[in-house]
Amino acid sequence: MQPDKPEPEGSVEWRSPSNIALIKYWGKQGNQIPMNPSLSMTLKYAFTQTEVKWHPNDGTTQGEFDFFLSGQKVGPKFEKRVGNLINEMAKAYPVLNDLYFTITSLNTFPHSTGIASSASGLSALALSLLSAAQRATGKADEYPRFLQKASHYARLGSGSACRSIYGPYAIWGGGVNTESSDEYAIPYKPHQDFETIYDSILIFSEKPKKVGSSAGHKLMDEHFYRQGRINQVRENSFRLLKALETGDFDVWQEVVEQEALSLHGLMFASHEPVLLLEPDTIRFIHDLNAFRAGKGLKVAFTIDAGPNIHLLYADEHREIIRNFISEWIMDHHLQIQVLDDETGKGAKQLFE
Ligand code: DP6
Repeated sequence: MQPDKPEPEGSVEWRSPSNIALIKYWGKQGNQIPMNPSLSMTLKYAFTQTEVKWHPNDGTTQGEFDFFLSGQKVGPKFEKRVGNLINEMAKAYPVLNDLYFTITSLNTFPHSTGIASSASGLSALALSLLSAAQRATGKADEYPRFLQKASHYARLGSGSACRSIYGPYAIWGGGVNTESSDEYAIPYKPHQDFETIYDSILIFSEKPKKVGSSAGHKLMDEHFYRQGRINQVRENSFRLLKALETGDFDVWQEVVEQEALSLHGLMFASHEPVLLLEPDTIRFIHDLNAFRAGKGLKVAFTIDAGPNIHLLYADEHREIIRNFISEWIMDHHLQIQVLDDETGKGAKQLFE
């Protein structure tokens, strides 16, 4: 392939979605290497849009970038994360050291909804910076290789971000199949019945997490159930993949819910116990169990490191589940936000 002409200045913009893990990543070692593999469904409407503008750093500017999230300059903690990512990328693309970046980022979902913005945010950033690096050097990769590298860099920014590059599902972590890797995620296409799954996200608390994700993952280092968890994930990945391949909603429900409850069980049983579920989270699960008993509904709940429920369901049960959610909220006189999402295709570049 002929190298393109290097572009000393320019701009690029990517959209990258959030994702919801069905097999949970919880525990890591070294430089963002997961303790166990994970599998996620990519979302469609919850995404981050990030534009990176670059020009030669003439030495008169302070720092190497400005980052604006929703029009506001980001705080020092996030700035450090961005700086670290640029430094990691500069090892392979030294040109980044000679550039100055103006980064502007927007989320489709409000900051306080408890949706992890790190997956969409860091993946959109990794994609945009990698595009900038390759255009500035005039050496572009073929698209599949580009995405794989972007997933690798997104992982260094935030583990779950590496899965957001791809849709409809993504696998991250070695040993799941012959292609899967600890370094980056790979796309996964299920049986057609799982290609579009709806996700209603019930926001029980908008407060920031009581335990940051890095501190949370650290709890697995010395965890009493560490080996048991690794064994459980091996079995759950195998069972879930088979269910996703054959269209088996019963096994899907069993594994997805067990993963969510295991994640929180692990938190409860940590050396420093972490309790993130709210009374309404538990109440909702009880009521869902009572409501769906004997009905054979294609529905499963999952929960990340917070109190909010993602209720996943198939199209044929969309009406009955959405009615159940609205009535449940009214019956309990709650004022909570519900975000409706569904399976998405992964990240995409925006062209003017
Ligand atoms: C519970 O990807 O936020 O959502 O790598 O430290 O940024 P860092 O962690 P992060 O962890 C996500 C944990 C989880 C499960 C999951 O998404 O797999």
